[in-house]
Amino acid sequence: MTKSSKQEIEFPKGLEGVVAATTQVGSVDGIAGKLAYRGYDINTLAEHSTYEETAYLLLHGSLPTRSALAGFHGKLLGYRTVPDEALKRLSDLPCPCHPMSMLRSGISLLECIDDACRIAETQESKQDAGIQLIAQMATLTAAISRILEHKPPIAPDPALSHAGNFLYMLSGKRPEPLAERVMDIALILHADHGMNASTFASMVVASTMSDIHSAISSGIATLKGSLHGGANERVIRMLEQFSTPEEALVYVDKAMANKEKIMGFGHRVYKTYDPRALIFQRYARDLSELTGDMKLFNIAEAIEKKVVEKLGDKGILPNVDFYSGIIYHALGIDASIFTPIFAVSRVAGWVARILEYLEDNRLFRPRAIYVGPENLAYTPMEERQ
Ligand SMILES: CC(C)(COP(=O)(O)OP(=O)(O)OC[C@H]1O[C@@H](n2cnc3c(N)ncnc32)[C@H](O)[C@@H]1OP(=O)(O)O)[C@@H](O)C(=O)NCCC(=O)NCCS
Repeated sequence: MTKSSKQEIEFPKGLEGVVAATTQVGSVDGIAGKLAYRGYDINTLAEHSTYEETAYLLLHGSLPTRSALAGFHGKLLGYRTVPDEALKRLSDLPCPCHPMSMLRSGISLLECIDDACRIAETQESKQDAGIQLIAQMATLTAAISRILEHKPPIAPDPALSHAGNFLYMLSGKRPEPLAERVMDIALILHADHGMNASTFASMVVASTMSDIHSAISSGIATLKGSLHGGANERVIRMLEQFSTPEEALVYVDKAMANKEKIMGFGHRVYKTYDPRALIFQRYARDLSELTGDMKLFNIAEAIEKKVVEKLGDKGILPNVDFYSGIIYHALGIDASIFTPIFAVSRVAGWVARILEYLEDNRLFRPRAIYVGPENLAYTPMEERQ
């Protein structure tokens, strides 16, 4: 709790611990280190599910039957393409700008170009627009990556899964089964996570009865920050600075002495291991062993050991962003695309929670305690110092 100096009113800074809604979409237990979507533990979903099935689960509340999943997959396939006009305008953007800014702009372009999305007013049409966004976020992200590499975007391949098609649209090569499965798991793990900042931001926008594209673009804007999804890119850039684990430990010592934050550690809710970090760590080790390049993984593990030893008691432990980048790196993906990949997945959670909230909408409108001066006399311009 923080106390406002003027009115002696206590309030939780950063809305820590404040309950803003009820939900059936997912739950996070920060003490036990558990994450579940619609009651299904994240470890179970990572082992058995696919991103398509997980997105269906988040949106509809239960696991699909075979035919329901086929129908949902067919819908996603039908929505994968992004209009050429949007891609052309994206390639005309006055870059260099971050791929997350391009993605945010891409979603705004889709809203302007697509009449059906713009006028989505019923829950059903909003859900349809949301499913379209889930499909198109992957296409847009891959196209942005290609544009930044000065290569033409690649059209989606309907024969491939959501994860497989995403990797294909990034590189132009059909992925190996292991790469496709690992990307699928990464998308499952990022799909939803309680009332996190980007989910809350998109819900706030939706609660004003703005359109779903505007809500999702605010989610992207929020996710971009280094305290949220932007941390995954910062982690890999930090790891890549070092040649050896010993070098990394010198950096960690210095950072801790200067009270600097180490990217990929700490969490507002988890005060124990983030269950997603544990899964990512396993796959990061396996993939690094497979590619025969353990350098980044060994550096990461040394940093983890040191940070946990020194700050673990304070609940500062690896979060979802610490090991995910090593996996994307092993898949040959550029670091600037790591945070957009988070959005490719999280869009399912954003849509599910927006739709749930709109079932019984009430405008989000908190208050702030005014602590500035009062009753000031207006000074004419010529008398101001
Ligand atoms: C995620 C995060 C924003 C949560 O923040 P929060 O709940 O507001 O916690 P605070 O930033 O107030 O930190 C609380 C304390 O832990 C410390 N701390 C938090 N994260 C830390 C980190 N990554 N490295 C070192 N110290 C950290 C703070 O310095 C602060 O210490 P103090 O009490 O001595 O002042 C924070 O842990 C962070 O910035 N992590 C790094 C960025 C990151 O990985 N983000 C991805 C999150 S999934």
